[in-house]
Amino acid sequence: MNEPEAFRMEAIVQPLLTWYDRNARVLPWRENRDPYRVWVSEIMLQQTRVETVKPYYERFLRHLPDVRSLAEIPEDELLKLWEGLGYYSRVKHMQEAARLICGSYGGSFPDTPEELQKLPGIGVYTAGAIASISFGKPVPAVDGNVLRVAARLTESSRDIAEAETKILLTAALEAVYPASRSGDFTQSLMELGAIVCTPNGEPKCTDCPLRSLCRANLHGTQALFPVKSEKKPRKIAQKTILLLRCGDRLALRKRPSGGLLGGLWELPNLEGTKSPEEIRTWLSAQGIVPEKIVKGKEKKHVFTHVEWLMSSYEIRCGECGGEFVWVTKQALDDEFALPTAFRKFLAAERKERA
Ligand code: ADE
Ligand code: SF4
Repeated sequence: MNEPEAFRMEAIVQPLLTWYDRNARVLPWRENRDPYRVWVSEIMLQQTRVETVKPYYERFLRHLPDVRSLAEIPEDELLKLWEGLGYYSRVKHMQEAARLICGSYGGSFPDTPEELQKLPGIGVYTAGAIASISFGKPVPAVDGNVLRVAARLTESSRDIAEAETKILLTAALEAVYPASRSGDFTQSLMELGAIVCTPNGEPKCTDCPLRSLCRANLHGTQALFPVKSEKKPRKIAQKTILLLRCGDRLALRKRPSGGLLGGLWELPNLEGTKSPEEIRTWLSAQGIVPEKIVKGKEKKHVFTHVEWLMSSYEIRCGECGGEFVWVTKQALDDEFALPTAFRKFLAAERKERA
């Protein structure tokens, strides 16, 4: 029974396409097949939920409607547009790729998965998504959603965290791709995983166009699939964050390029958990004599490979000194890309992002 290879994959094509025609969500990146638009959406959606992505996507396209505008925007402004989405290397790679497309490719996107994969930040998945959705090529784009659907359909006990699992599924799908509706088929698989064959809680099998083919549904084994190996636990790093205030200004500094949050702005901070005395000593080395040091909030921020446990101090300064940039709240909101890990310390953030 657990032989995914024996599952007749071609049987899912028509039911899925028919279902997609009736049930596809209206999403901003589905307005047309422009490869630039598809690319931006796929990159944003890689680590971020659809509902979070939507407003970012609309704003990004308003500011940067085509690949040339992305190639030309100053990096600081680009990072500001991405602020809050996280995984900033995604957008830095996008800009590198945009510059290559405008240079080596004469401004138009390559249309094969092989050529697409030569661009920074575009791997097998993204290349498959762009090639099928924008260019109608019969190539799969297998992400976590698609792996989950397939594992349940076929009752596959293969670990979906293994590269081999993805390669086998890609081959099995490629063999049945409907050449006249490649993009819709790609999106129908993702869509089913997103709204019917869902990751948390029970999948909505009664609404599923594949329910009569699905082995997990036939056997009631949905909860056993997919099989996924345990990830290594994240490293934990303690940090002490400093909110240095001088009049109505707050001290920021720029992170070195490369590495976690490279090139973004940050609140000054120290490794480990520091006492007020240690803070005072450190500040005096920066040429700053604080008027008052008060313990502030404690926050946690989870990245892919590391978790920050942050304590903080609110520090009142008489002079805007040291190697910092001192910014007003208005400037911080309008111009400086400050990652969410630090924004958590600022009171009552404005939520709306025009
Ligand atoms: N997740 C990844 N790509 C997607 C797309 N094109 N539509 C909806 N969800 C997605
Ligand atoms: Fe997923 Fe249920 Fe559909 Fe099977 S029947 S693919 S488990 S939603």
